[in-house]
Amino acid sequence: MEKPGEIEEETEFLKKVWLRHLKKPARRVLDIASGDSPHGQILAREGMRVVGIDRSPTMIAAGKKGSRDLAGVSFYRREINKFSVPERPFDVAFFMSETFPVLISNDDLLSHLHSVGRLLRRGGLYCIDIDKMDRIRMVRDRKRWQRRKVRTPEAIVDVNTYDRPFPWYSATQSIFELECQIKFHGRPTQIVTTRDVIPIRYTVPQLLELAAKASQMFEMIAVYTDLSLVTSLDQCDRRWLGVLERV
Ligand SMILES: C[S@@+](CC[C@H](N)C(=O)[O-])C[C@H]1O[C@@H](n2cnc3c(N)ncnc32)[C@H](O)[C@@H]1O
Repeated sequence: MEKPGEIEEETEFLKKVWLRHLKKPARRVLDIASGDSPHGQILAREGMRVVGIDRSPTMIAAGKKGSRDLAGVSFYRREINKFSVPERPFDVAFFMSETFPVLISNDDLLSHLHSVGRLLRRGGLYCIDIDKMDRIRMVRDRKRWQRRKVRTPEAIVDVNTYDRPFPWYSATQSIFELECQIKFHGRPTQIVTTRDVIPIRYTVPQLLELAAKASQMFEMIAVYTDLSLVTSLDQCDRRWLGVLERV
């Protein structure tokens, strides 16, 4: 769903952040909720060793296929809230594509930071990309948010998204429901419907700073916005990147 060139731009920005905050060049990279690790594949082409973790076997299979000509990429199927992998310490970890706020409970948030922290060397960096949340999407009843049609070589997919209600005290920004109705070409009577319900935690820099401190493994050393080293939080349009240092 990224725009053309977006992954490349994000990867370049990560490298700028590492250059600014690391004393030694990054060689070993951990990609959290990597999917097929599009950023990792670019970094591996530049000679870095990349490990992706993700819970989706489909995305991992796509990642293995996309990186089969690359020596330095491997994947582990793991949940992000608590995990370990049999690997030497990494110089950097990153969590791209605004998925971090699916860590809803304080326990999951802290055990996630402990899991990443145990895999990073001291002084290593954990960069977390998060959407700007300037509005809590509180609704009284389930309400349609977006609608679109996606065409693939195998099928046409009607995609509907909804906002769902949640209690005011839950620290939630929204509960996002994604419904896909998949109509395969040549099988007009067979419609497959999938439904994912994804609560999103209201996540702002102050929360990440507090979680980093509470983990006793990280300190938040910088916040950048919109893939810029100079744009202030006040001027932030779309997204921000929290930079945590392993203490
Ligand atoms: C939006 S994709 C991003 C993939 C990749 N980082 C990118 O930038 O293209 C989010 C990924 O997070 C993974 N994911 C979501 N929740 C997860 C969880 N609890 N444990 C492990 N992976 C998870 C999904 O399987 C999916 O591949």
